Amino acid sequence: MHPWIAQRTTTFDASGIRKVFDLAAKLTDPINLSIGQPDFDVPESIQEAAIDAIRGGKNAYSPTQGIGPLREALSKEIADRFGHADRDVFVSSGTSGGLMLSMLSMIDPGDEVIYLDPYFVMYPALLKMCGGVPVPIDSYPTFELDPDKIAAAVTDKTKMILLNSPANPTGVTATAEQLEAVAKLAADKGIALVSDEIYSRFHYDSDFVSPTSFNPDTIVIDGFSKSHAMTGWRVGYVHGPREIIATMLKIQQYSFVCSPQPAQWGALRAMEVSLDGHIEDYRRKRDLICDLLQDDFEFTRPGGAFYLFPKAPGDAGGEAFVHRAIERGLLIIPGNIFSDKDTHFRISFAATDDTLRRGAALLCELAKEA
Ligand SMILES: Cc1ncc(COP(=O)(O)O)c(C=O)c1O
Repeated sequence: MHPWIAQRTTTFDASGIRKVFDLAAKLTDPINLSIGQPDFDVPESIQEAAIDAIRGGKNAYSPTQGIGPLREALSKEIADRFGHADRDVFVSSGTSGGLMLSMLSMIDPGDEVIYLDPYFVMYPALLKMCGGVPVPIDSYPTFELDPDKIAAAVTDKTKMILLNSPANPTGVTATAEQLEAVAKLAADKGIALVSDEIYSRFHYDSDFVSPTSFNPDTIVIDGFSKSHAMTGWRVGYVHGPREIIATMLKIQQYSFVCSPQPAQWGALRAMEVSLDGHIEDYRRKRDLICDLLQDDFEFTRPGGAFYLFPKAPGDAGGEAFVHRAIERGLLIIPGNIFSDKDTHFRISFAATDDTLRRGAALLCELAKEA
């Protein structure tokens, strides 16, 4: 290792994802079921708002906490939903920026962080960067949030429980009862509850419920990346207890500085854009991919997001199955990128119906050969 590289960077690696990207780069015109963002474009009125901002000279730094009108609109929405007196909000550089600031603000070396396995790839990496100790909870085979398993993992070093419903990579949603039980556990034990709600709009079978409804100290991380297909614009937001938000802002001031100002004006417009048509379309895509794969694969039907996490057929494991799929021109992601196990793979159904049908046909062929 180069002598200049800090030890903290050696606690995690990105080689798994890089391997998939390297394999993918060799494919010409793959059937791509790997993409973690919607297949629709940023709605036009949002594009226009950002272009107007750029042309109107709104190109400088914004306040660290975000432009006034966006913060006011978010504050109002959050106050209407939860009505918590001690709740503040700021605009972050994407949801990832919010996650990073949460860890930096709350995790000291040795602090334990509980989250479900499978997990979003950034969770263990970010918390290890801060010296935190990952405590993944095995949620196979249903991927449900089991409050008893969470309670059993709590120790006197537990600092944070990190929830993600709907979840990446499983698409599984937690029930209100499960969320309430975990929210109350966190409150009883004085543990920080962080809820990554980036997929909250993609919730197909019932209304989305936040654990914030049951625990007023919950820290929520959300953003516009997935809901409005704005992944490259870097606009997220975090709301939670004022003192925690102030601490995150102190770090944002000396790191990200602010979310890009023109993108924030776009996000302000996004708050007025109805997503109903897109969500209905994604519910239909969820049904389509489940129907196409149900005879050949074991999986939990996702209640949200745009992912499916099936078990790889045969005994070779998830990574070997994904390599076979990639050799045949189908891009999917091995489950061991999101998990300590190598048994499953992730499909994104944020794709055209034609791509979904072609991908599913190939997957079923591969399953029959396994
Ligand atoms: C669960 C989860 N959280 C956070 C993010 C990061 O989103 P953003 O683009 O807003 O940083 C992603 C992106 O894939 C995600 O899946």
